[in-house]
Amino acid sequence: MRIGVLTSGGDCPGLNAVIRSVVHRATADHGDDVIGFHDGWRGLLEADYRKLDLDAVSGVLATGGTILGSSRVQPAQLRDGVERARENVATLGLDAIVPIGGEGTLKAARLLSDAGLPIVGVPKTIDNDIASTDVTFGFDTAVGVATEALDRLKTTAESHQRVLIVEVMGRHTGWIALHSGMAAGAHAIVVPERPFDIDELTEVVGRRFAAGKRFAIVVVAEGAKPRAGSMAFETGAMDIYGHERFTGVARQLAGELERRLGKEARPVILGHVQRGGTPTAYDRVLATRFGWHAVEAVHQGAFGMMTSLRGTEITLVPLAEAVERLKTVPDERYAEVECVL
Ligand code: F6P
Repeated sequence: MRIGVLTSGGDCPGLNAVIRSVVHRATADHGDDVIGFHDGWRGLLEADYRKLDLDAVSGVLATGGTILGSSRVQPAQLRDGVERARENVATLGLDAIVPIGGEGTLKAARLLSDAGLPIVGVPKTIDNDIASTDVTFGFDTAVGVATEALDRLKTTAESHQRVLIVEVMGRHTGWIALHSGMAAGAHAIVVPERPFDIDELTEVVGRRFAAGKRFAIVVVAEGAKPRAGSMAFETGAMDIYGHERFTGVARQLAGELERRLGKEARPVILGHVQRGGTPTAYDRVLATRFGWHAVEAVHQGAFGMMTSLRGTEITLVPLAEAVERLKTVPDERYAEVECVL
């Protein structure tokens, strides 16, 4: 068989482990040919690719980023590109395409799959917000990076009696905020699923100082917003990919908390450091298993499906199901850490 692989959307630690696993399983065990498209869907639409053999993936297991490059694509570009994609698949003699990506990529995968292209998706995102898999690789690494940062920030916050508002990634969901905040013992965790009440937050942080503590750490997901009407808040316009441009929730919260509490409050934005660098062992293993199972799915002709972790097993779920809704932080998970003092 001939398989084309691509990585699309925001990068994520573990992408190279999937690519390596696909190449190993496909070429060494099945005798397949594998090619890698450059920069995501763009590579497929422009037939820009290279051959991937065992040498091409040697030494990449522990590396961050993606050896194939990635890009975001506008939904309309892809809709217009279905025929081009079909032609390229035929010209290149491809039996399957394995796109590795998050919500946007999987929606695009579904579109192409519905148009009849042979697709097996692999989910990735540090945000962990794909509903039909228990975990996505990249999340464990991002949580580890954020937790280490929070541990470090605690000591400097205490030295200077500051409130540090630490902004982590999480456009629609607060999984990184929840897990890193819990792991580091943050004093308040703010997630997009629950618009925050600035009065409540001020009280939580204020109570801590009143109890004699000398600092506070608030973790906030970048997509979090105040409860309507509770605080003046700038919001950003949409970019060309349909994503809101964030205006800095940590910055705005720091200003407001400093004003209300009379304590020095500083924003810290962790940003892309959460996405860079080597994947954790957990993410390498999950990514490797996804790659292996994606090749098996191709050989079973299980197109229109995506690999998924359920418990400890890797299964296949329809792409249609995978893109139906996002996995948000449920109230019962948030209740476990609410108002930690
Ligand atoms: O989806 C993963 C993610 O890291 C989000 O948490 C974040 O909002 C977004 O990508 C940032 O994307 P970009 O690197 O394109 O700004």
